[in-house]
Amino acid sequence: MCVVGSGGREHAIAAALSISNEVVVAPGNPGMEGFERVSAPPERVEADLWVIGPEAPLVEGLADRIRARGGLVFGPGADGARLEGSKVWMKELLVGARVPTAGYQVFEEVDHALQYLRATADPWVIKTDGLAGGKGVLVTDSFREAERDLRAKLSGRAFGDAGRKVLIEEALSGEELSVIAVCDGRRAYPLAAAQDYKRLEDGGTGPNTGGMGAYSPVPFAGEDVVGDVMERAILPTLHALYKRGIDYRGALYAGVMLAEEGLKVLEFNVRFGDPEAQVLFPRWSGDVTATLAAAASGSLSDHNAPNFSSDAAVCVVLAAPGYPEKPETGERIEGLGDALAVADARVYAAGVEAEPGADPGADSGAHLVTAGGRVLDVVGLGPDLESARGVAYRVAGMVSWPGMVSRSDIAASVS
Ligand code: AMP
Ligand code: GLY
Repeated sequence: MCVVGSGGREHAIAAALSISNEVVVAPGNPGMEGFERVSAPPERVEADLWVIGPEAPLVEGLADRIRARGGLVFGPGADGARLEGSKVWMKELLVGARVPTAGYQVFEEVDHALQYLRATADPWVIKTDGLAGGKGVLVTDSFREAERDLRAKLSGRAFGDAGRKVLIEEALSGEELSVIAVCDGRRAYPLAAAQDYKRLEDGGTGPNTGGMGAYSPVPFAGEDVVGDVMERAILPTLHALYKRGIDYRGALYAGVMLAEEGLKVLEFNVRFGDPEAQVLFPRWSGDVTATLAAAASGSLSDHNAPNFSSDAAVCVVLAAPGYPEKPETGERIEGLGDALAVADARVYAAGVEAEPGADPGADSGAHLVTAGGRVLDVVGLGPDLESARGVAYRVAGMVSWPGMVSRSDIAASVS
């Protein structure tokens, strides 16, 4: 098996697959202990299944290149990955498929966008069309902030070409939910629901990030809610792709708002969520490899549908100071060895690298330094959310580096 990527999500996927297989990670990171790391392009790695973690290689066609060589891949081709690579394309597909989603307008000119802002009431929701690592969305009730954001995006200053086209969306409010399904082109089966914390600070304040924590199961999202997301969002989208000749094999992630007026899709991603994967894979009780391989080969059935344990998982992301704008890195990570030894916790490594000059053979992560925005993901497991949350925060408290950032309210209001 080859897991493509280098973050905490890929660490969680690799850990789940390694229960029954040899797993290599491409390129992985030095905190992924016990896995062979390869720096060669993933299409050159020998494997019987590739699982592609992040969106960027999917959007630029890695799955197509591996399939062209006869490889079995869990992850859509560039055609299907457009769903995440262009929010405008995604919105047009959703409207055509009658999937409920927030109303929107597309702008490429600052003047037109400002005119629209003046004519509409706050809060304003401004999104880049292209990929922005989860950081391309601004929700604000300040006109000045909205104007600054529009200028930075449309000029290419903030997100390069990804921001030269923006969407201004109708603002929705309600509970957010992540529902991810595994798809084999025509059929889809949902994983358990998860909830993600996108804002940097407690209480849902501060800038949007890639995700500061997650938990699963979600008490207010039982089978009926997940079934509704499947019927109204995921299946119509998969079928709309199929009708366009797109054979979508991989994870399809619907970020939905349970708004007063009903369910609305906020975004589609073409991969597992990060950090949702970190709480879903430890709860996945069936044969993960068999399910992903069946999806990749177009043969999903009730027989290999995903199953989840009743245990709860809570993930707390430990980030570098300055994240998401400008993370300060290069700090030595202390306490990781103790954290890794806790039986009902998992510590997935994301933005880490080996300390310069450290013995590469040293174990227990003793010589890792921070090297990215989101550095480590600490997952607590337990029979219910409250105990899982207790474990996650106890173990997060064992780890430190100067300026470490985390939220203290992950799963707090639900457990
Ligand atoms: P997205 O990457 O599109 O999911 O947006 C990131 C976050 O911005 C979401 O998780 C929401 O918290 C918020 N958001 C996105 N779209 C809207 C909207 N139309 N109304 C209110 N909040 C939104
Ligand atoms: N946690 C949100 C995402 O993966 O896009």
